[in-house]
Order: sequence, then C-alpha cells, then structure tokens
Amino acid sequence: KRTAIAIDLGGTSIKGALIDEKGAILVKKSLPTEADKGYEVVRQNVLTLIEFFQDKKSEEKASLEGIGLGVPGTIDPRSPHVVTFAPNLHWRNVPIGSDLAEQTKLPVFMENDANLAACGEYWKGSGQGAASMALITLGTGVGCGLILDHQLYRGSKGAAGEIGHLVLVPDGPLCNCGRKGCLEALVGAPAIVAMAQKHLALERSGFLATVEGPLEARHVFDGARQKDPMALSMVQQVAGYLGWGLALLLNLLNLERILIGGGMAQAGDVLFNPLRDMVKQRALPAAIESCEIQGAILGNDAGIMGAAAQVFQSVEKVGDQ
Ligand code: BGC
Ligand code: NA
Ligand code: ZN
Repeated sequence: KRTAIAIDLGGTSIKGALIDEKGAILVKKSLPTEADKGYEVVRQNVLTLIEFFQDKKSEEKASLEGIGLGVPGTIDPRSPHVVTFAPNLHWRNVPIGSDLAEQTKLPVFMENDANLAACGEYWKGSGQGAASMALITLGTGVGCGLILDHQLYRGSKGAAGEIGHLVLVPDGPLCNCGRKGCLEALVGAPAIVAMAQKHLALERSGFLATVEGPLEARHVFDGARQKDPMALSMVQQVAGYLGWGLALLLNLLNLERILIGGGMAQAGDVLFNPLRDMVKQRALPAAIESCEIQGAILGNDAGIMGAAAQVFQSVEKVGDQ
C-alpha cells in the first residue's frame, strides 16, 4: 500500500505519523521540538522522527511516497523548500525542506501548518464538501488555512490568511513577529497564561489559585466551565478579540464554514459560544448568517492528515497550484 510520512512541526512538539492513502494512521509518534536550541537541533529532531517511520514502513511492507511537512510560518509557493518567516521559531529564510530532502532522498512537500490542517479537515474532517472555509489553529501561534472555491488559497507569497498578525490593538502587547497588538499576542496560549498570571499576582483567589503546577491556557477554560468569574471574564476577552478577527475574515471572504482547531480548540463551547456571539455582533448579517463556526473534528490530527493529503494529492484540486 501507498504511505506517506506526515510531520507537523510546532513550537513545542513535533507530531508525526505514517499514514496510508485512505487516511488511516498506521503509526504515530511525537518528539519535543527544542526550538530554543536552534535550527540544527530542530532539524535533527525532525530527521530522527522521519527515520523512525522509515523503519516502521519496512515492517508494514508499504511503499513510501514522500514526506509532508507542516511548519508554523510562511513559505513562498515558488520556493517551496524554504520557510521565509516563522515568528515563534525565530526563523527567517530557513531551507529545512531542501535540507531534509537531501538527507532522506525522499520528496518533501512543505506547507504552512494551518494550511495543512485546513487540507486535512477538507479531506477527512468537518470541512468535507465546503466550497469555502477557514481552519483557525489556536495554540502558541494563531494561524489560518483558507479553502476558496474548493482550493487551498496561498496568496502571492504564501501569507494569505495570516490572521494571527492582524493588528487589533495599536501599541498592544509585543508579538514574536516584532509588531505590537497582533491577535496572536492577545489570544495565543502564552498571552492567556500571562493574563492569568497577572491576575493571580494581583489577587490570589478563585479557581486559578487552586491550580497546582505551572498554569496553562486550558486552566482558564476549565475555570470558565466551572463558572469562576475571573476565568469567565478572561474567556470573554479572548472571545472578543478572536471574534473580531473572525468577523474581519467573514466580511472579507463570506465563508461557508469556520473550523476551530489547534490545542486550545479543546476548550469547546465554553469558548465557542461567546465567540459566536462576538462574531454575530461584528460581522455583516449576510457574512455570518450562512456561516457555521464549529470545532475541527480531527483535532490535533488535522495537520498530519493534511500533510499526508499533500503527499498523495488525494484532496481534489487542493494542493495543486
Ligand atoms: C504564524 C503562522 C502559523 C501560526 C500557527 C503564526 O505565528 O505566522 O504562519 O500558521 O502561527 O502556527
Ligand atoms: Na496559513
Ligand atoms: Zn504578530
């Protein structure tokens, strides 16, 4: 059977899988990214993961068609082996695609992580059949993959849909892209943790004060689910900014569907409900009426599924540009 190695390179972990052409995940494994140790270490970690799957593939007696690689940054479609900018990895013009192709002697199909997640959901998840949709990834970074008229839309330099760097608050918190007040600097996981820590420094009370170990973004959503007033107001603020960003997207593109993925999508309705309200308040009726905002069904597997789709080009039209 035909298989692909699918890799989703994130700021904290590298998720990988061996996936067959029908979309079945045969083996799955993750490694820490170690982004702070620099490019050489990150590339070596990706390579270790690839070699693990190459061994597995021999056991499965499968043919290997190539490697699909998702990265948290922009790629110029005309130079698809180079990451031009990945703010949360502090990478500029890093040729990880060509380095890996050279080292593995396999074809490498590299693409923006959120773009791949959109392809994954379109192929096997809640994006099936959508003529136009956006997949939003909520994690350390805030990303977006756009499917327009059934095709992945990359833009002229691969920066289409970079929703995380829409500046919503002039002189707001500093973003890893170097600007201030970006959506990502307001609602990315580290921003939510910082908000919670700030609150605790002022007043050690409520649900967040009961958390043992290091605070994480999910604790804020847990608190909101338990109706903790402080956590609820933080989620309201996150939904406010995110809803603002989504309303801008909807007025511009009048999408059929918006899917929310990435680690923070696990928050579910405690985030999605106030988010839907905010979008309704800010988008034109015709832009929101027909649009569904829902969780991405593949969850954290969307990226690796899209990476495999990219290799097989099974997604009708998506990916061939
Ligand atoms: C990057 C995007 C990426 C997103 C999610 C953002 O900071 O600019 O390219 O898709 O993070 O990883
Ligand atoms: Na994107
Ligand atoms: Zn930014």
